[in-house]
Amino acid sequence: MRHCHILTLALSLYFLALFLPTQARHHYHKKHKHTYYHNAPEISPSPAPAPAPSNASDEATSPSPSDNENYHNASNSLFDVRTFGAIGDGITDDTESFKMAWDTACQSESPVKVILVPQGFSFVIQSTIFTGPCKGGLVLKVDGTLMPPDGPESWPKNNSKRQWLVFFRINGMSLEGSGLIDGRGAKWWDLPCKPHKGPNGTTSPGPCDSPVAIRFFMSSNLTVQGLRIKNSPQFHFRFDGCESVHVESIYITAPALSPNTDGIHIENTNDVRIYNSVISNGDDCVSIGAGCHDVDIKNITCGPGHGISIGSLGNHNSRACVSNITVRDSVIKVSDNGVRIKTWQGGAGSVSGVTFSNIHMESVRNPIIVDQFYCLSKDCSNKTSAVFVTDIVYANIKGTYDIRHPPMRFACSDSVPCTNLTLSDIELLPDQGDIVLDPFCWSAYGNSETLTIPPVFCLLEGLPQSISGNDIDHC
Ligand SMILES: *[C@@H]1O[C@H](CO)[C@@H](O)[C@H](O)[C@H]1NC(C)=O
Ligand SMILES: *[C@@H]1O[C@H](CO)[C@@H](O)[C@H](O)[C@H]1NC(C)=O
Ligand SMILES: *[C@@H]1O[C@H](CO)[C@@H](O)[C@H](O)[C@H]1NC(C)=O
Ligand SMILES: *[C@@H]1O[C@H](CO)[C@@H](O)[C@H](O)[C@H]1NC(C)=O
Ligand SMILES: *[C@@H]1O[C@H](CO)[C@@H](O)[C@H](O)[C@H]1NC(C)=O
Ligand SMILES: *[C@@H]1O[C@H](CO)[C@@H](O)[C@H](O)[C@H]1NC(C)=O
Ligand SMILES: *[C@@H]1O[C@H](CO)[C@@H](O)[C@H](O)[C@H]1NC(C)=O
Ligand SMILES: *[C@@H]1O[C@H](CO)[C@@H](O)[C@H](O)[C@H]1NC(C)=O
Ligand SMILES: *[C@@H]1O[C@H](CO)[C@@H](O)[C@H](O)[C@H]1NC(C)=O
Repeated sequence: MRHCHILTLALSLYFLALFLPTQARHHYHKKHKHTYYHNAPEISPSPAPAPAPSNASDEATSPSPSDNENYHNASNSLFDVRTFGAIGDGITDDTESFKMAWDTACQSESPVKVILVPQGFSFVIQSTIFTGPCKGGLVLKVDGTLMPPDGPESWPKNNSKRQWLVFFRINGMSLEGSGLIDGRGAKWWDLPCKPHKGPNGTTSPGPCDSPVAIRFFMSSNLTVQGLRIKNSPQFHFRFDGCESVHVESIYITAPALSPNTDGIHIENTNDVRIYNSVISNGDDCVSIGAGCHDVDIKNITCGPGHGISIGSLGNHNSRACVSNITVRDSVIKVSDNGVRIKTWQGGAGSVSGVTFSNIHMESVRNPIIVDQFYCLSKDCSNKTSAVFVTDIVYANIKGTYDIRHPPMRFACSDSVPCTNLTLSDIELLPDQGDIVLDPFCWSAYGNSETLTIPPVFCLLEGLPQSISGNDIDHC
């Protein structure tokens, strides 16, 4: 999110989005029926507007599947991308066929519409924005393999380098299938601007955009189910501005040292269920950003990676509200963190009503951590405001920690302490030797309801004096 963009738009055959780096603005306006977004860095490259259902002259020059009764008619609700011309040989650019299949299915009146990416084929498609609203819900069934062009060199110059497949303004969609989505991230991870990838292990300056593999933006009633997805150049999934999201039985893999390859990132997204999934990668397993509430995460296995994270929140003095988050019945192994809440100094808002329960840790560096001093540069100055962290439950968290860090760390803001942290049935042992490190607390109020291992004596009782002040923003 370091670089700002403005969206410029070009419509040719169907529509093409051009993303050019420049200053960000935070508004949008309507013009000639098309919505143009000028993005704040948080809502990065916004997708193009919905294509008007059109019979524009361009269409007449290419074979239109809807003209062909063999391919599609109103009673036929299966849209096989091959019938729209996709080749699936792993080389040919099949983008236009996918767009055509999408637009046809999207406009179809059939009650159930399935866009099929058949098994046994490998489709290369460029960065594309699949736009709604559609006439009713649809299914994108990926039984084959989907891949982007291989690395930044082969990425079309005028395509966004910040996202690959985008689903925009869709209500009611299922992305499912037995296939594979292969982000081909390796060449992106090795760019000289990535950490330690420059000459002699340096990090070269300059823009370092890499695409999120799958982004759902301003959409609702979404299901992602059964897929395997690997090696995204950046986040594997990003949901922003979405409502009612169900992720079920997915399998995400990327190497432990692949930078920024978060498994599932959500922000400004509510009513989220992430169940029965396995994620191993080079960054957060699941990351929960500002504006999320009602999130239930159950039976997921994370690691290697960076664990499950709420945050980072409050960057650039921003206000963040996160509430009603549950993470339960899960395993976190060989990870830099277990369950983490991280905020920058200077923010506002709150994180409240979070429950981490029944979690098994295996060789995790910071199994339980609240870090309100999150800072990437080491020279962040202390500020007097912070995102308020309150009503956090840690229950039945057991297993082993990597002895390089204490098993529990509650580092809270001096001016806005954490309150009502409750611990019960915590049992964290060193993964090797018998050096038991003491938990660390700073400005942290709460209590242990049962004896914990190691024992926590550093939590402060009751409520801080300052908490009645005006500093607290309850969202
Ligand atoms: C689309 O077709 C309809 C009916 O044939 C016609 O009235 C309309 O002008 C066409 N639109 C375009 C953009 O060609
Ligand atoms: C529509 O497609 C179905 C299945 O392919 C076919 O059986 C049917 O005859 C088609 N209907 C028309 C009107 O072409
Ligand atoms: C963008 O790419 C399309 C082909 O995908 C090409 O026709 C067009 O000229 C390109 N535009 C620019 C500004 O490079
Ligand atoms: C890399 O390190 C070598 C040996 O220390 C040195 O000769 C070379 O100039 C360095 N290259 C750069 C680009 O810093
Ligand atoms: C989601 O789907 C349900 C049932 O189909 C519908 O009632 C609801 O309005 C949809 N949600 C949104 C945000 O459109
Ligand atoms: C938990 O998730 C795993 C992996 O997806 C699955 O095999 C297992 O059946 C799930 N367990 C339960 C109780 O649903
Ligand atoms: C918290 O979120 C869950 C879904 O994860 C929802 O069922 C529940 O109603 C929410 N609780 C409150 C108090 O909003
Ligand atoms: C910021 O506050 C923390 C906690 O009180 C303290 O340890 C640290 O030294 C302070 N840093 C600066 C730069 O003042
Ligand atoms: C502490 O947090 C728990 C869990 O969110 C909540 O149920 C309880 O009411 C809170 N206690 C106080 C005193 O606010």
